Amino acid sequence: MIQWYPGHMEKARRQMIERLKAVDMVIELRDARFPEASRNPMLLELAQNKPRLIVLAKSDMADPDVTEQWIRRLRKNENTACIAVDLMRDSKCGRKIIRECLEVMKPKREKQLARGIRPRAVRAMAAGIPNVGKSTMINRIAGKNTVKAADKPGVTRSLTWIHADKELDLLDTPGVLWPKFDDEVTGTLLAAYGSINDDILERNMLAMDVIRMIQNTYPGLLEDMFDAHGENPNGVLKKIAAKRHLLKEEGKPDTRRAADAFLFDLRKGKIGRLTLERPDEENEDLSE
Ligand code: G4P
Repeated sequence: MIQWYPGHMEKARRQMIERLKAVDMVIELRDARFPEASRNPMLLELAQNKPRLIVLAKSDMADPDVTEQWIRRLRKNENTACIAVDLMRDSKCGRKIIRECLEVMKPKREKQLARGIRPRAVRAMAAGIPNVGKSTMINRIAGKNTVKAADKPGVTRSLTWIHADKELDLLDTPGVLWPKFDDEVTGTLLAAYGSINDDILERNMLAMDVIRMIQNTYPGLLEDMFDAHGENPNGVLKKIAAKRHLLKEEGKPDTRRAADAFLFDLRKGKIGRLTLERPDEENEDLSE
């Protein structure tokens, strides 16, 4: 099991607890390609009973059918809305997110109106693990380059209020990871997709673990793509090396460079629209 809990994460956690008092709801970003591994278990604990909008980002790179399954599944949680978005190409997604936030807060706002109180702008905290697309989302909602995108994983930003819209104030939070990963699969997915620094894990092993996962979830895909029928993960890496002419001096396949190339393509969605986690009764947070 990997333990990875730098001091700045603890600081961020404490800051979040303090600031949560001032927010009405939480916008929880997850990666549509691995909605379970990209969630932060701590967030649910911290957010207590606050209404929540789960935004599945990078849906353009995820398997559309599985994304639909995830949305249906996550909406079953109490007080929870869920949408999937392509933050890069969907220019209207900022507006969609604002609309969803207002919908989530509708019961409370209606109560206020009934009591003669004019509801103020909704205050939402945006939270998610590093690299999930949070800066991109905030820029989409606020309609300008509010946050510098593409911070390196794990780099802390301070908590800042952003007047995103007349109906929505956003509290940005640093990407916060959790104290430890629940299991190996979570660690593998986070490293494979660049949510944690992948030099923590050995590249070849990482690539082979992901290849095994893809072989199980999308049988035949890699085999067809790399002419690798009947190959085990190491064999697939060799085929990738051969196909890309990544050879060592003595002419043998350079699996190390093949692993790098494979992981790069995976992150950019070039292996296809894959979702390596499926929703099921056990692995979601209904039980929490
Ligand atoms: P963060 O604040 O949560 O850390 O994430 P950020 O917005 O910086 O986004 C991380 C990377 O993901 C960026 O790519 C961004 O363009 C990309 N991204 C965010 N949302 C989407 C989406 O819905 N679809 C796609 N296809 N990409 C998205 P980058 O600058 O190239 O960084 P990197 O990919 O090299 O890490």
